[in-house]
Amino acid sequence: MSETTQVLDLFDTDHRALVTQLAENATNRCEIIVGDARRVLKEMPEGYFDCVVTSPPYWGLRDYGIDGQIGAEATVDDYITGLVSLFREVRRTLADDGTLWLNIGDSYTSGGRTWRDADAKNKGRAMDYRAPTPEGLKPKDLIGVPWRLAFALQADGWYLRTDIIWNKPNCQPESVKDRPTRAHEYVFLFSKSEKYYYDWQAIMEPASSPKQKSKNRRTVWNINTEPYAGSHFAVYPRTLVQLCIAAGSRVDGRVLDPFFGSGTTGVVCNDSGRECVGVELNPEYAELARERLLRGR
Ligand SMILES: C[S@@+](CC[C@H](N)C(=O)[O-])C[C@H]1O[C@@H](n2cnc3c(N)ncnc32)[C@H](O)[C@@H]1O
Repeated sequence: MSETTQVLDLFDTDHRALVTQLAENATNRCEIIVGDARRVLKEMPEGYFDCVVTSPPYWGLRDYGIDGQIGAEATVDDYITGLVSLFREVRRTLADDGTLWLNIGDSYTSGGRTWRDADAKNKGRAMDYRAPTPEGLKPKDLIGVPWRLAFALQADGWYLRTDIIWNKPNCQPESVKDRPTRAHEYVFLFSKSEKYYYDWQAIMEPASSPKQKSKNRRTVWNINTEPYAGSHFAVYPRTLVQLCIAAGSRVDGRVLDPFFGSGTTGVVCNDSGRECVGVELNPEYAELARERLLRGR
């Protein structure tokens, strides 16, 4: 397989640091733009994408080791406000019948600590600061970040169509003894308009009744996390992305992931005949994604 890296003029912008197109791999219709999504999105044409599948950095949870990273804001309100304005740009680039599938997890207040220890198994988890307890919350409170964000996006004009519980049967154990171990995150389905493209038949699930082989997909998705050997962390599983893309975009459609990370969205798009544009701030992760797309998994 030959590989070409070239600077493209896809969105006719001077601001983009680099666009990598894996042009000579016939099955690869994925492009990676290295840069800050807040700026890169502004250069993208209106109504260009059919579907957006993404997982933004969670607030105060991981250090992606680069200036300008989202998730390191001093307050949860700043984090939400920043994401709302970023997703406003996303909505502009989305076709009128397009959808946004947004994966996000929750976290707890720090209980007064201002930093967090490195996790021996997952060094990327260490933050050299820990966000302060948001006003009105107490130590040990669950912050409710996913729903704060969902309501803020709804108030900004998105149609909030459903929450989906991503249940992780193989979730990480926790040492807590005063609450159940968290085993889920959310995927929110938003649409730009009241009517939108949604292929319910593409993601039907098996039915238990003998009369019926399959039924409309339910809102709880049981999907194991997938180990990823590269040094990126917070990778979401391909199966999760496959469902979003199958229901939310037509074959030959165009998908955007403004927080591309290791490129999982691109891998699934390549496997399922969709074009994909990924934006990633950290050039090292963009390089990992590029290598991963060339490997094809
Ligand atoms: C939760 S991870 C995405 C992981 C991805 N879904 C995967 O499967 O690999 C969030 C990513 O957003 C990137 N990021 C943080 N701030 C950004 C910004 N301002 N613009 C673009 N990417 C950003 C981080 O570097 C990180 O790779």
